[in-house]
Amino acid sequence: MSAFKNKINLILAKSKNGVIGKDNSMPWHIPEELAYFKKETLNKVIIMGRNTFNSLGGKPLPNRVNVVISKTLSVDDFNGENFLLFKTLEKALSHFHREIYLNEVFLIGGADLAKYALEKDYIKTIFETEVEIEIKGDNLTYAPNFDTEDYVMLHLLTQVSSTAPNLQFSVYEYIKVK
Ligand SMILES: NC(=O)c1ccc[n+]([C@@H]2O[C@H](COP(=O)([O-])OP(=O)(O)OC[C@H]3O[C@@H](n4cnc5c(N)ncnc54)[C@H](OP(=O)(O)O)[C@@H]3O)[C@@H](O)[C@H]2O)c1
Repeated sequence: MSAFKNKINLILAKSKNGVIGKDNSMPWHIPEELAYFKKETLNKVIIMGRNTFNSLGGKPLPNRVNVVISKTLSVDDFNGENFLLFKTLEKALSHFHREIYLNEVFLIGGADLAKYALEKDYIKTIFETEVEIEIKGDNLTYAPNFDTEDYVMLHLLTQVSSTAPNLQFSVYEYIKVK
């Protein structure tokens, strides 16, 4: 059994039709949902794939340890910004395993890296936001599937955005029980 089985968190936001990204960026801007994401991940380790790193415009998210998983990037691509780079997710998890509890680690996407971690069974808890919107068009990235029967689901909150008119979102926590 892997040392990382059921250890880390995954946090993602998806539309009603399962979209998490469009044209390598977020398909919506909901300040209240960003505030929720910030509250969950502040002072934690956040791990992202290369495309998600690119979507941040080269700037790490403040007050978090920003980690990028990529076989093609080098540290020079960070222009001195505060990112840590690992070639595999396992190397990153081994690094943090020695320093902190892995339940302080949040995988923040994108779909490619999340799918890999789910298939490897590394994810203990999924914090999933569902945004009441349908995203259509080209160049869409879809959330990876997971078997809800392996998890207990808690409804954490439902909120209507006051700044992104008429957009409602709900947050669910899925805790793995198998
Ligand atoms: N709605 C949300 O919650 C949310 C969150 C995050 C991102 N997004 C969106 O999702 C989209 C990006 O997602 P994506 O699926 O295209 O890409 P991604 O997962 O961010 O990045 C994929 C890249 O990461 C590296 N990677 C992934 N898994 C790896 C593994 N197991 N081992 C080594 N390297 C690995 C590879 O980089 P190399 O090819 O360099 O090796 C791979 O090409 C964007 O639209 C972004 O805005 C949405």
